Amino acid sequence: MRNINFSGRVAIVTGAGRGLGRSYAEILAARGAIVVVNDVTNPGEVADAIRDAGGSSIASDHDISTPTGAKGLIDFTEAQCGGVDVLVNNAAVGRYSSFLNVEIEEYELVRRVGLDGTFYVTRAAWPIMAAQGYGRIVMTTSGHGLLGGRDSISYSATKGGVFGMMRSAALDGKPFGIMVNSICPAAYTPMAESYVSEEWAEKMRVESPTSLVSPLVALLCSEQCPTTGANFDVGSGRVGMVTPFTNAGYYDRDQTPESILEHWSEVTDTAVQTAYTSSRESTEAVGIARRRTGADATH
Ligand SMILES: NC(=O)c1ccc[n+]([C@@H]2O[C@H](COP(=O)([O-])OP(=O)(O)OC[C@H]3O[C@@H](n4cnc5c(N)ncnc54)[C@H](O)[C@@H]3O)[C@@H](O)[C@H]2O)c1
Repeated sequence: MRNINFSGRVAIVTGAGRGLGRSYAEILAARGAIVVVNDVTNPGEVADAIRDAGGSSIASDHDISTPTGAKGLIDFTEAQCGGVDVLVNNAAVGRYSSFLNVEIEEYELVRRVGLDGTFYVTRAAWPIMAAQGYGRIVMTTSGHGLLGGRDSISYSATKGGVFGMMRSAALDGKPFGIMVNSICPAAYTPMAESYVSEEWAEKMRVESPTSLVSPLVALLCSEQCPTTGANFDVGSGRVGMVTPFTNAGYYDRDQTPESILEHWSEVTDTAVQTAYTSSRESTEAVGIARRRTGADATH
C-alpha cells in the first residue's frame, strides 16, 4: 500500500496550540505537509517544535471566530505558502451547562468559535479549493452533538450544527474535488480534563492519547481519503462511525394521530435502517418511492 504523505501540500489546523490540534499539525508535518499552526494561544511554540523536528510550519494567531480573523488566516496562508489544500477545523471552546442555568453569553461564545468559526474559515478557503479542483476538509463534531449529553446545551447545539454543515458541504464539494468529513474524537486534552471527573480523566490519560485520533485525521486529509460526507467516532484505539439512519417507518396516507400511535412500534422500529447520503435521497427512498411502488396504490 502506498504511504500516505503530504509533500507539496499546504495544511491549516485551527486550534493547534495544544491538545488534538497539535497532534494533527505534528502528524501532517511529519508526513511532509507545510502546516499552518493556528491558535489564539501558543501557535508559535508548536510551529517552532515542528520545525525543530525537521518539519515545515508557520504560526498564525488569527481568531477564527470572526469573519475577518478567518479570512485573515486564509489570506496569510495563501501569501506565505502559495495555497491551501487541507483544512482541519479543530478549534472550539467547551462550556457545559444545562438548559436551566445556561447563560446567553456562554451559548454565543461556544457557537461563535465552534460553529461560526468552522463556517468562516471553510467559506474563506472554499473558492481556493474549488478553483484548484482539490481540497480536503475535516470538521470536528462530538458525541454530544450527535447523540446528546447532559448539561451541555451550548456545546451540543454547536457540534450538531457542525455535523449538518459537514454533510451539506460534502455534497457541495463533490463537483470540485473537495472532500469533507467530520470526527467525534475522544482524547485526553485540556478540554477533556475540564469536563470529566478526576477518575475518568486519569483513565483517559492512560487509554486515550491524542495519537489515537491523529492517524484517522491524516487519512481524511490525504489524497487517499476514501470517503466524503462521513462522520467518524475515533479514540482509544477504535475507529468507527456515528451517523444518522432512516428506518422503514409506518406508511399510511390516511393516517391519523390515533393510527400513528397504534403503529408506534413500526414508526420507531430500527430493525431495517439505511444510511442515506442526503435528505433528498432519504425522502425519495422511504416516502415518495413507497408511494410509487404501490405501497399506496389507491392514492
Ligand atoms: N478531547 C476530547 O475528548 C474531545 C471530545 C469531543 C470533541 N472534541 C473536539 O476536538 C477539538 C479539539 O479539542 P481539544 O480537546 O484538543 O481542546 P483544547 O481546548 O485542548 O484545544 C482547543 C484549542 O482551540 C483554541 N481556540 C479556541 N478559540 C479559538 C479561536 N477563536 N481561534 C483559534 N483557536 C482557538 C484554544 O486556544 C485551544 O488551544 C474541539 O473541536 C473539541 O470540541 C474533543
